[in-house]
Amino acid sequence: MKLNVEAPYNRLPHLPVSQSKIETIPILRQVAKSAIALAELKGLAHTLPNPSILLNAVILKEARASSEIENVITTHDKLYQALSAKGIEIDAATKEVLRYREAILEGYHAVQKRGFLNTNTIIAIQRVLEENNAGLRKLPGTSLKNAVTGEVIYTPPDDKEAILALMKNLEDYINEEDEVSPLIKLAVQHYQFESIHPFYDGNGRTGRILNVIYLILCGLLDSPVLYLSDYIIKHKSDYYRLLQEVRTADKWEDWILFMLQAVEETSRQTIQQIDSIKTLFARTQERMKSEAPKMYNKELLELIFEQPYSKIEFVVERMGISRITASKYLKTLEQIGILVPKKVWKETLYINQALFDILKK
Ligand SMILES: Nc1ncnc2c1ncn2[C@@H]1O[C@H](COP(=O)(O)OP(=O)(O)OP(=O)(O)O)[C@@H](O)[C@H]1O
Ligand SMILES: [Mg+2]
Repeated sequence: MKLNVEAPYNRLPHLPVSQSKIETIPILRQVAKSAIALAELKGLAHTLPNPSILLNAVILKEARASSEIENVITTHDKLYQALSAKGIEIDAATKEVLRYREAILEGYHAVQKRGFLNTNTIIAIQRVLEENNAGLRKLPGTSLKNAVTGEVIYTPPDDKEAILALMKNLEDYINEEDEVSPLIKLAVQHYQFESIHPFYDGNGRTGRILNVIYLILCGLLDSPVLYLSDYIIKHKSDYYRLLQEVRTADKWEDWILFMLQAVEETSRQTIQQIDSIKTLFARTQERMKSEAPKMYNKELLELIFEQPYSKIEFVVERMGISRITASKYLKTLEQIGILVPKKVWKETLYINQALFDILKK
């Protein structure tokens, strides 16, 4: 460990990593399992009645969990309220999580549009997240410390030119299609990004956003519906230790296995969640048809599944109907027990409670 602590700045090796270190038999076995789970998720995401149902929820969940690693704590309730209600006061933590959501969308749209992921996009993601224009580090003084003892465990490169060159090298690695499985490269690029630590702050969160954007870039997902930060926060000490041991002990295998397991487990969880949403959607559809047949409408049904908090205005906009009719629809859904009203500031939000409960999990 001493090796790098005492260096003026860490001479982080450029990528790629030699194949013998990252394509071991245990890794290749785990790649097969993770790839199956991820492919199943990718396929299943398309079978939802409306893909934005899941997308909204997963992005918010990811934003919330990832910000929690940084001790930014808010609730699902506050987040959905902030998105739906007008004029309410939004606390700082909730705002920060909403910025994280914007930052994911920033990266997603950039990759969709351009088909590659470059340093400028990475800077744009961090800018949205941190709401400042600091950009890449230009001044020395950044070091990673042990949260308990305060001991410096790693000093990332300090030199402006070295950081730029490392970012360019990372960009090439990310965009270049080679023979190594993109799932293995996912772990490699995440280690490398965190080790370059190109920003003054927000490197962890930007890096976690890059993970899902990278999977989209490689075609392993069509939209950011994988929710890795939850796994990372649950195994936070392993996560930090394994990152460090790549550097100090060349332990690539353990690090890559950790990330591959994160992909597998998270995919399985999201698959279950999609199944629950689909079941609830079908059940709600049946209930609307049998208990309020006159007002059954597919658009209305989809609307109350797009996000769990609806309101009259959303129905008016979506269905092109009057406020009076929209209000009648929502009240009927309340009467048959599908929606629960909640007064927030000056307006009433209608909560799809059963959906909210699934999304929160
Ligand atoms: N030993 C290490 N080597 C490389 N990277 C590390 C190491 N320890 C921690 N990191 C990375 O640094 C990140 C923290 O950096 P920074 O404070 O800039 O990001 P953040 O987004 O503000 O914080 P957080 O990740 O806690 O939300 C961690 O999430 C982790 O990815
Ligand atoms: Mg920080």
